[in-house]
Amino acid sequence: MDTPDIRACEEVVPASEGPTSSAALRAIAPLSGSACADTLVSPAPPSAPRLLVVGCGGIGGVIAATLVEQGQRLTVVTRRAAITEAIRLRGFDLRDELGQRRIRGEVELVEELPVEGSWDFVFLAVPPTGLVEAARGAAPLLAKGGALVCFQNGLAEERLARIVGPERVIGAVVAWGASSPDPGVFERTSAGGFTLGRLDGEVGEQLESLGRILEAIGPVELSTNLRGARWSKLALNCAVSSLGTIGGDRLGVLMRHRFVRRLALEVMTEAVVVARAEGVRLEKVAGTLDLEWVALTDAERSGAGSPSVMAKHALLLAVGARYRRLRSSMLAAIERGREPPVDYLNGEVVDRAMRHGIGAPLNARIRELVHAIARREERSEVSTLRRLYDETRYPGANAAQKSPPPA
Ligand SMILES: NC(=O)c1ccc[n+]([C@@H]2O[C@H](COP(=O)([O-])OP(=O)(O)OC[C@H]3O[C@@H](n4cnc5c(N)ncnc54)[C@H](OP(=O)(O)O)[C@@H]3O)[C@@H](O)[C@H]2O)c1
Repeated sequence: MDTPDIRACEEVVPASEGPTSSAALRAIAPLSGSACADTLVSPAPPSAPRLLVVGCGGIGGVIAATLVEQGQRLTVVTRRAAITEAIRLRGFDLRDELGQRRIRGEVELVEELPVEGSWDFVFLAVPPTGLVEAARGAAPLLAKGGALVCFQNGLAEERLARIVGPERVIGAVVAWGASSPDPGVFERTSAGGFTLGRLDGEVGEQLESLGRILEAIGPVELSTNLRGARWSKLALNCAVSSLGTIGGDRLGVLMRHRFVRRLALEVMTEAVVVARAEGVRLEKVAGTLDLEWVALTDAERSGAGSPSVMAKHALLLAVGARYRRLRSSMLAAIERGREPPVDYLNGEVVDRAMRHGIGAPLNARIRELVHAIARREERSEVSTLRRLYDETRYPGANAAQKSPPPA
């Protein structure tokens, strides 16, 4: 079996192991002999699209830094004085596969959403938990024909569409990782690009224009099937992010346990079954990982090991080896005292499963456990994952739904 290449995992892939995007390379100014180069940028022409970046953590910071380096016209809502001061003092400190450099250019830094102004694209790079608040504040700031751009994992476009209408929402599925270890420091932890799309599947001039802007960060694919791309990534995140949060270790360590791989397969299977019930045609993640293939068949769910199940285990072993240093950002959020976004991942699968009258018991239990970990009632460690596995081995636990056929 060919091992599919997965480039849509969240974060913390050592730079040397991630694929390098040629588009990203083009965006990078040459480094001098010193460990950290300064990049000075000339301003964009007045006709360039006006861009507002809301949220300056890992994803927002890498996007903002790269676009400032490209000379784009940018306003960034940093929310914190420490971030504003760090960038004013030292520029954006950007670290990626080519090393470290400081980027200075014309950029407006603000700590709150402006009360007036007009932007062609508003990039929402806040956690899913703060998305609706940020979108409500940003909606009046959209220029005529402008759009909110949604970088969140999960199915956030539908929530945004209820605020500004579907025609003003563009989904950007992020297939690379980033973090912000200190204010003003933005670390790209894996290479990759974006899949852009709209809920109605239309690809037009506006999507193309956004694609040209984001190509500075990584390869851009314009998709007529945003929902298919979102659901595949959601299924993957439900397993990788949430099991990583409960297990409290890096992906490489966790995936060496057979029972963890089995849990991951079952979590993704539940998500795929719900996606089919929603009428979604799943896209391959980053064009390679086929969730339809990964999902367990009814026979594989109830039966003993088979060559096909062994092949799926082998795939997860390979993924674990490749992304062995990946640590869940949801766990990092809990450690920073933030609300974990599990309701927007596994919770989304559970809620939609209920609407279709089918079950997603494993995702439901995972949602409970992650919240319990956030409340310090459960511990984030492998033995908690083991208990989850043992608890969910009752007869019929994995055959809760009848799988609709692939859409
Ligand atoms: N990190 C990844 O590798 C990755 C990969 C794919 C997709 N994503 C998605 O990208 C989004 C951002 O992730 P991230 O890792 O960049 O998160 P992050 O590092 O936690 O950064 C989020 C930033 O948004 C700020 N923020 C929150 N609410 C805000 C508001 N209303 N207005 C302005 N700023 C606000 C936060 O400020 P405070 O610290 O003050 O709360 C924080 O600085 C998430 O939705 C995630 O699903 C992330």
